[in-house]
Amino acid sequence: MKAMIVEPSRELALAEVPEPAPGPGQALVEVEAIGVGYVDVMARRGDDAHFPGVGSVLGLEVVGRVRAASGVAEELVGKRVLALPDSGGYAERVAADADRLLPAPEGADPVEVVALGLNALVAEGALHRTGLAAGERVLVRGASGGIGVLATQIAHARGAEITAVTSSPEKAERLRTLGAAKVIDRTRADRPEDTYDVVVDTVAGPQVGEYLQLLRPNGRYVLCGGAGGVPGSEVFDLLLRDFHRSPTLLAFSLMSVAPAGRRRSWDRVVELFADGRLSAVLDTTFPLTQAATALRRVESGTSFGKVVLLQG
Ligand SMILES: NC(=O)c1ccc[n+]([C@@H]2O[C@H](COP(=O)([O-])OP(=O)(O)OC[C@H]3O[C@@H](n4cnc5c(N)ncnc54)[C@H](OP(=O)(O)O)[C@@H]3O)[C@@H](O)[C@H]2O)c1
Repeated sequence: MKAMIVEPSRELALAEVPEPAPGPGQALVEVEAIGVGYVDVMARRGDDAHFPGVGSVLGLEVVGRVRAASGVAEELVGKRVLALPDSGGYAERVAADADRLLPAPEGADPVEVVALGLNALVAEGALHRTGLAAGERVLVRGASGGIGVLATQIAHARGAEITAVTSSPEKAERLRTLGAAKVIDRTRADRPEDTYDVVVDTVAGPQVGEYLQLLRPNGRYVLCGGAGGVPGSEVFDLLLRDFHRSPTLLAFSLMSVAPAGRRRSWDRVVELFADGRLSAVLDTTFPLTQAATALRRVESGTSFGKVVLLQG
């Protein structure tokens, strides 16, 4: 079958590779649409410790039909699923553990499903961990990103008041339509003036301390991405300094969530999607063979929502 592999130069190239053979507990998925995320940018560079490396195939999230399942999830054969393999999604077919398959919402387009995909699980899971309640104030960093646009909508659907941090007036306008009551343009002198019950941070980097100080008493700060790099160690000094306000600093990785928890989170996402309170936000689609261009778009920070690769 055809797949895009990472060459020793770290470029991507179309290659003929062996068809994946699903092992015990795995299913074979015929790929229709592939989600592209910042994590792929990092894997291609060699910055993701979990990616197998040169010669391997990127891709952690695909939507497609289950073609075969060896003794597990046989009820899903022929059905459309969101599959979350460890890698290998930039291909015609991919093998994934059966407990990494989630049923696609009835009648939904594969592009929409993958645009929700892993990002919706991260956004929903991260907000769920904070115990977000209706009426609370939430700040989202990286609000125009794949995870950010969904975190904004999910927090809004849960009755929170959202402030989105983004990087252009156009992005700001679109975030308002997704439910942000206020928008801060980080490229201007704008600085948040409010305090927040919850901060959802998909960026991290040296500004974490600055945002951490915006927490209200009993506030929760959830770090769920790192495109901006590692936070400085002053974060720990700040937590101790603000001890009397009981701040909570959480890290959230989808990798830590057990299959049953992932399924519960997906069901909550599908429910919001089905009743129109959550929409998939598609930035661009590219054919699989243009995966390098798709990655550049994500890396450039100009995308709004999800970049998706299509088979064919
Ligand atoms: N927790 C998990 O389980 C999990 C799973 C998958 C991915 N991730 C991680 O989550 C992060 C976000 O992923 P994504 O797919 O949403 O990425 P994305 O679509 O590339 O969005 C990231 C957004 O962050 C903002 N941004 C980028 N660089 C920045 C910088 N230097 N300073 C401030 N803001 C910056 C931009 O938004 P604005 O222009 O709106 O500011 C950008 O659109 C990545 O680090 C990824 O590896 C985590």
